Amino acid sequence: MIKKGIILAGGMGTRMSPLTKAVNKQLLPIYDKPLIFYPLSILMLSKIKDILIIVNKGQLEQYKKIIPNGDNLGIKITYKEQATPKGLPDAFILGEKFIGKNNVALILGDNFFYGQNLTKMLLESSKLKNGAKVILHKVLKPEQYGVAKVNKFKKIIAIKEKPKKFISDLAITGLYFFDKMVVKYAKSLKPSKRGELEITDLLKKYQSKNNLKAEYIGRGGAWLDTGSIEDFYNTSLFVSAIENRQGFKIACIEEIAYLNKWINKDHIKKSIKFYGNCEYSNYLKKIIS
Ligand code: G1P
Repeated sequence: MIKKGIILAGGMGTRMSPLTKAVNKQLLPIYDKPLIFYPLSILMLSKIKDILIIVNKGQLEQYKKIIPNGDNLGIKITYKEQATPKGLPDAFILGEKFIGKNNVALILGDNFFYGQNLTKMLLESSKLKNGAKVILHKVLKPEQYGVAKVNKFKKIIAIKEKPKKFISDLAITGLYFFDKMVVKYAKSLKPSKRGELEITDLLKKYQSKNNLKAEYIGRGGAWLDTGSIEDFYNTSLFVSAIENRQGFKIACIEEIAYLNKWINKDHIKKSIKFYGNCEYSNYLKKIIS
């Protein structure tokens, strides 16, 4: 089982300025909680308890206010600052010490996943021993993402970052599982034309060794964008529609920790105190009553 995970929560969020001038994008709300809760919940649902969050230099204190460490979630959270965004694979260079000789998952701080079979798929993926695994999802605008072309045996036969010409409508989502070779491969990458290390180039290293696997989120699952203000609004509407219909919260990190038996009622009581008198706390009260 993969035990370590990285959340890449850097980036300047320029497309969302002025909202992102003072606050990092991943701390802005998706409906009733900060965006960062959603990718964190995905790692926790994958039963990953040792998590490194990479944030922009100068923004660490913002994060520590909302997620000081993992104590109240029964997990370990460490932070690392990134001086300048250098592309997604830089997470593995910055995270070299954290990763050590372990396999590792990476989730982008702005990715949102939802669906009935999600947890099963996550647990299956985190069993990875060798190679790398990507999670694919069909989209209408593949040109906005990294995409993978697969053959009829569902084997990946081509990968391209933001293809201008159509090669496939399967986007490579921002959740990846890697074996311990990832640090070495990341260090061997050269910046692309846009001056960044590309995750697709890293994946190609695994593909060339015939060691890249894929899982799928089918049409019953959702992978949503939080790239623009419009996306934030639509994803918030999605969360609000589900939560207000069912009464369950999506990405309530304390609930996940409690159901995983990583924490007890006392931890939840502490969290209620921490959040104060709010709707989120009322939900936590319900969980332990
Ligand atoms: C990045 C990756 C791309 C991936 C996407 C998922 O794109 O480069 O391969 O499909 O995240 O969110 P970016 O957000 O940098 O445009």
